[in-house]
Amino acid sequence: MAYDPSTSSNVKEVQTTHLELNLKVDFEHKILDGTVTLSLVALADNINKVILDTRNLEVKSVSQDGKELKFNFGDKTDCFGTSLFIDLGDQHLTTGTKIDLKIAYNTTKQSTAVQWLEPSQTVGKKYPYLFTQCQAIHARSLLPCQDSPCIKLTYSANIQVSRPLRALMSAIGIGEEDIGEDSKLYKFEQKVKIPSYLIALAVGNLKGKEIGPRSTVWTEPEVLEDAAWEFEATEKFIATGEQLLTPYEWGKYDLLVLPASFPYGGMENPCLTFVTPTLLAKDRSLVDVVAHEISHSWMGNLVTTANWEHFWLNEGWTMFIERKIMGRLHGEKQSEFDAIIGWRALEEDIKLFGEDNPLTALQPVLKDVDPDDCFSSVPYEKGFNFLYHIQKVVGGPEFFEPYMKAHVKEFAGKSITTDEWKNFLYSFMEKNFGSEKKDALDTIDWKGWLNSPGMPPVKNEFDQTLAKACNELAKRWNSANSKGQFEEFSTSDIENFTSEQKIVFLERILEYQPLSHPAIIAMDKVYKFSTVHNSELRFRWQKICLLAEYEPIFPHVVKFVTEQGRMKFVRPLYRLLNNTKNGSSLAKKTFIENRSFYHPIAAAMIEKDILKE
Ligand SMILES: *[C@@H]1O[C@H](CO)[C@@H](O)[C@H](O)[C@H]1NC(C)=O
Ligand SMILES: *[C@@H]1O[C@H](CO)[C@@H](O)[C@H](O)[C@H]1NC(C)=O
Ligand SMILES: *[C@@H]1O[C@H](CO)[C@@H](O)[C@H](O)[C@H]1NC(C)=O
Ligand SMILES: *[C@@H]1O[C@H](CO)[C@@H](O)[C@H](O)[C@H]1NC(C)=O
Ligand SMILES: [Zn+2]
Repeated sequence: MAYDPSTSSNVKEVQTTHLELNLKVDFEHKILDGTVTLSLVALADNINKVILDTRNLEVKSVSQDGKELKFNFGDKTDCFGTSLFIDLGDQHLTTGTKIDLKIAYNTTKQSTAVQWLEPSQTVGKKYPYLFTQCQAIHARSLLPCQDSPCIKLTYSANIQVSRPLRALMSAIGIGEEDIGEDSKLYKFEQKVKIPSYLIALAVGNLKGKEIGPRSTVWTEPEVLEDAAWEFEATEKFIATGEQLLTPYEWGKYDLLVLPASFPYGGMENPCLTFVTPTLLAKDRSLVDVVAHEISHSWMGNLVTTANWEHFWLNEGWTMFIERKIMGRLHGEKQSEFDAIIGWRALEEDIKLFGEDNPLTALQPVLKDVDPDDCFSSVPYEKGFNFLYHIQKVVGGPEFFEPYMKAHVKEFAGKSITTDEWKNFLYSFMEKNFGSEKKDALDTIDWKGWLNSPGMPPVKNEFDQTLAKACNELAKRWNSANSKGQFEEFSTSDIENFTSEQKIVFLERILEYQPLSHPAIIAMDKVYKFSTVHNSELRFRWQKICLLAEYEPIFPHVVKFVTEQGRMKFVRPLYRLLNNTKNGSSLAKKTFIENRSFYHPIAAAMIEKDILKE
């Protein structure tokens, strides 16, 4: 049954089915203070304790039907937190018994799920802000819980904030109530069962604008119009996801554009995707992240990994559906082109981790491993390539697409392992298309794909139409770089390139020898990459310059890594700056001075990257 190396909770003995949060948001002391009531059901006989995960929380009392229960804490560990042992007294629960436990607690400044922002860290600069990020195992620092994706529960919440701030959660808003002159209570309900890592809260000066029949974009008023414009395609993505899979089950699909320190591109919090403001490219060129988060509505949120060792079932599947959506809307050539960019990200991460590193296996072993340390493009892109390969092996989309739908129907509401996924794949293919498909599946190198570290055992062939011009231009630059002559290049080389083609061009340049300084100067003169606004382009250009030890880029890098805190950008840039001959102390100094700007998860990772060892 349930196995999860990242939880200390007795998940085999009891299961949370619902929780109710009552919290007051205290910006002055930077704490969330209140109660959580967990509704639990016993899964076995003779249960006399409940063990919950916590991390940097203060627990004041635990009670059952108004009667106080004894509790104590286990040892504090580095990343898994502290177990909370709740003694049920002389009760011995039998299978199916239901109990409610009410826990009075507060978060602390060390709670890693919560980032408290000063007004100066927001766009408007007038009001404080807070947001949470629970994936992978930070929900335990927001509330005492069974912090494992193998447990799925519904939740309701009442969040008290001071005016004029507004609270939003990964749930449906069901009402607001005035509390005295100064405060307001926001009420929420999530009726679809979710894992703990999808509980999310944001509080700030938030305004909304409707962008579709079931979608509102929320953000600070200063950037609301830009955000509404950028994400105009949202409904099209949802509708395409519904055609590919099953009807959208969550009611609303809202977007929250966060302040700049948000550490991820997006987080698929149900009913309310969180996204980084670095997507606001002003040309709608980075909205594939929204297609990605929408795809999680099925893959991850409805069908969930049983533990973090099978994380690829969330992310590989989501990449696969994201690219199907993009293919339907923008053509297969475009979606194959995206896959080429993804392959390159995979190569880079596997190089960084080391190709023998067991954490680069699609299904890594995570006993005693912090899931954050394992985060890379492996579950995303190796996972995508695995599914792409399987699709080909079984005969193409004609056979694979009906299976995708069936997969969601079979596992909606459940948490599954790779074995369960594989068994259903086999049984579906054989039942619907005969034993010939079983034979085809038998040809797959399952162990190589799932358990071996390094690059996948098979390299998929993607359509190269859109990549061709990028490759050729990069090749010309590479030979010009050796000759030291750059007269042949002009602005028109890339005038008809999409943003993504420019990205692939820069990716190709990164695969060659570093550019000479005259080459960098010449390229910047014709293509103006130093002043580009698009965050993905800016990122690649700065990488190229850092690898070439081109010091005039240093101030641009410092600016970029201190004006946004998305880990995809800041971690590699800090690492590369640290690795230049003259930028190492600048990297460390910049990080130390701006540490409080970053989300706690990002700060911990950057610290590991450049300050330790
Ligand atoms: C870019 O496209 C325009 C319009 O289609 C065309 O006139 C121009 O020649 C193209 N430029 C290049 C360099 O291919
Ligand atoms: C590093 O700085 C020194 C002194 O300013 C300079 O001479 C040297 O060229 C720089 N190194 C690189 C790789 O630019
Ligand atoms: C980063 O640190 C520098 C130096 O202390 C400071 O001037 C700057 O405002 C900081 N940036 C942010 C975004 O906090
Ligand atoms: C950061 O730079 C220092 C040299 O200052 C080096 O010893 C260390 O290995 C670098 N860290 C990483 C992770 O590359
Ligand atoms: Zn994702």
